[in-house]
Amino acid sequence: MSNTIVIFGASGDLTSRKLIPALYQLHAKGRLPEQTRIVGVSRSEFEHEEWRKALRETTAKFAGKVFDSSQWDTFAPNIYYQAGDIQDSASFEKLASFLHEIEEGQSTGRVYYLSTMPQLYKTAIEQLGAAGLACEDNGTRRVIIEKPFGTDLKTAKVLNQSIHNVFDEDQIYRIDHYLGKETVQNIFALRFANSIFEPLWNRNYVDHIQITVAEEVVIGRRAGYYDTSGILRDMFQNHLLQLMMITAMEPPARFDANMVRGEKVKVLHAVRKMSGGDFAAQTVRGQYAGYLQEEGVPADSQTATFAALKLYCDNWRWQGVPFYLRSGKGMSCRTTQIVIQFKDVPHMLFGDKRRNTLGNRLVIQVQPAEGIQLHFETKVPDAGMKTRTSHLDFNFQDSIGGSAMPDAYQRLLLDAVQGDASLFSRGDEVELAWGIIDPILEAWNSPAAPPLLVYETGLWGPPEANEWMLAQKREWFDVCPVLQ
Ligand code: BG6
Repeated sequence: MSNTIVIFGASGDLTSRKLIPALYQLHAKGRLPEQTRIVGVSRSEFEHEEWRKALRETTAKFAGKVFDSSQWDTFAPNIYYQAGDIQDSASFEKLASFLHEIEEGQSTGRVYYLSTMPQLYKTAIEQLGAAGLACEDNGTRRVIIEKPFGTDLKTAKVLNQSIHNVFDEDQIYRIDHYLGKETVQNIFALRFANSIFEPLWNRNYVDHIQITVAEEVVIGRRAGYYDTSGILRDMFQNHLLQLMMITAMEPPARFDANMVRGEKVKVLHAVRKMSGGDFAAQTVRGQYAGYLQEEGVPADSQTATFAALKLYCDNWRWQGVPFYLRSGKGMSCRTTQIVIQFKDVPHMLFGDKRRNTLGNRLVIQVQPAEGIQLHFETKVPDAGMKTRTSHLDFNFQDSIGGSAMPDAYQRLLLDAVQGDASLFSRGDEVELAWGIIDPILEAWNSPAAPPLLVYETGLWGPPEANEWMLAQKREWFDVCPVLQ
């Protein structure tokens, strides 16, 4: 069956920076189903050829070394442009007849990609429904929805409800680009294609888990969005909780969309709700020095650009094991890593007996130095029975011979075209995630809030976040990745 991908918000940054380069690379690798058309929709007026020309330039820039003119020339004729306004029902009627024309009335699978302002998602869905564009009489109809999916539990529920009025759950693909990252998918392989880690992957052997998404960048020109969002909505409700779910979930019976998501959702159900004094004891919030001077940020903004949370998962596997989730802008370096910190040996025979075996940890480097390290104690040669921490290092770049890891959007777009929703969030999943984040947001707006700590950029967030860990006899794994 042929396919059409309709991108709403086509003149936006995401389309030129991520979506078209990803589709181009899928085409160049021969992965897109034969006869895949792309239709861009936004308010500006463009001729097809004019839009193709503009995209050629941006794709050459963003696809980098892999851009090949002759491949582009076979890809570009399948790109079309249709001016339209999401608020205007006539635009959807025009779109319907344009699609009918280019698809020549043939049975065609369609994917609608909502890359517009989030405030327009609801209207776009209603218009698709009213124009008969969601009807599956002549091929599958799927919709991809970008983040943010709501701004809290209430708005996420309303959005789910309006989408469900038009599309069934199995037609809906809520995107979280972290799930498109190879190293995130590799956590499934590491855990469920090996027998050596799983016996240790529980409360009997694991002391705690750290999930860090550190970014060196600051908010730049995004104040309009960021100041109303802040770090919890921007990074925790989606990316960090996704990483936590995949790290903590039980193995599904099959690698099938509903089974995988069913297991992930159980993790969210098990996350202990905070109340009372927990918010001050289990959360740290910070704002980088200089945030208030960023263009567009109100002078008295209390928006957090750094957060650390201590979460517990009340189930058999993880009872009593803290999950420390941390993310911030303006940090030392860009790194996303998951650290599985194993417990101390019960009785240390060698060296300093008071020393913890801090070395027993598995570090999953999600980005940018994609790989896995296993840290353990070894004997220092010629030094009696003194020990030190050594590590085994697996690096993806070495193993794939230096070629770049594919961008997250390639995998996700292809999965949506092929109807595999395993790496997309289900409706109940986003609502449960908001159910964890909402009470923290509320507490941070109340007298129960921990202080908003101002931190210098270029560090690992507020120094108090380190003291907070040390007071719990634990340490953050603050290591910037070494890039080759
Ligand atoms: C986005 C956030 O979802 O993820 C950004 O809105 C953040 O603030 C980005 O910078 C991080 O993504 P990545 O893939 O660069 O880690």
